Amino acid sequence: MEPFVLAGNHVRLSVPTVADVDRITEICQDPEIQRWTTVPSPYRREHAEGFVTTIVPQGWAQENGFTWAVRAPGDVRPGDPEPPVLGMVDIRLDDGPPGQRSGEFGFWTAPDARGRGLMTEAARLVVDFGLDPEGLGLARAVWRAEVGNWASRRVAWKLGVRVEGQVRGMLVHRGDRVDGWIGTLLPGDRREPNEPWPADLVAHPGSRGRRPSS
Ligand SMILES: CC(C)(COP(=O)(O)OP(=O)(O)OC[C@H]1O[C@@H](n2cnc3c(N)ncnc32)[C@H](O)[C@@H]1OP(=O)(O)O)[C@@H](O)C(=O)NCCC(=O)NCCS
Repeated sequence: MEPFVLAGNHVRLSVPTVADVDRITEICQDPEIQRWTTVPSPYRREHAEGFVTTIVPQGWAQENGFTWAVRAPGDVRPGDPEPPVLGMVDIRLDDGPPGQRSGEFGFWTAPDARGRGLMTEAARLVVDFGLDPEGLGLARAVWRAEVGNWASRRVAWKLGVRVEGQVRGMLVHRGDRVDGWIGTLLPGDRREPNEPWPADLVAHPGSRGRRPSS
């Protein structure tokens, strides 16, 4: 599949290219990205080069991994430069049979662009494309994160992901097995919170959430 643009009100998603290498290298120095994602550490320019010249194009060509850079919204005329990278979002497919494939989505936002709702909108565009029968027609979307990554969980929660488990040793992070959260979103699920936010459950029983029955 040829890379294409997904456009939202506050974001423009387009494929990352060699023009983005310096910016990606700079952003991936961020301690939070190093802490919570599997980007190489230390992150060097050659990693960004390999990402945009090999990993990303291979995923699009093999139709098993679709990566977009998150940028400011707006039209870009052919041949004009794309706006700078603000974040990255992808969805990677398993090898289930046609119509039954599952896609795991992942993301990061540049530190100076966080807290503006950009990733919520960007990930929503990607997940909608993934689950849409006219898009990838996936049977499910999956989100996984290391336990404690509340910002990531918040994004997933706002898209409608239900966290179905906290699994011991689910992920490997920089050589160590770590506990992980896993949640899913099915095509028929509402694309808005489908469960109480955990803090509300504890802090506001009976108002924004319900106290778990014992
Ligand atoms: C997770 C991440 C991508 C979110 O990007 P973002 O563009 O800031 O996301 P948004 O602004 O759309 O939404 C973030 C939400 O998380 C909330 N949030 C941020 N930190 C939080 C925390 N420690 N606890 C609870 N909520 C938190 C924000 O308040 C916001 O929710 P709100 O709009 O309801 O207030 C960004 O924090 C990041 O890049 N982190 C490092 C990389 C990473 O963890 N990637 C995911 C790996 S699974």
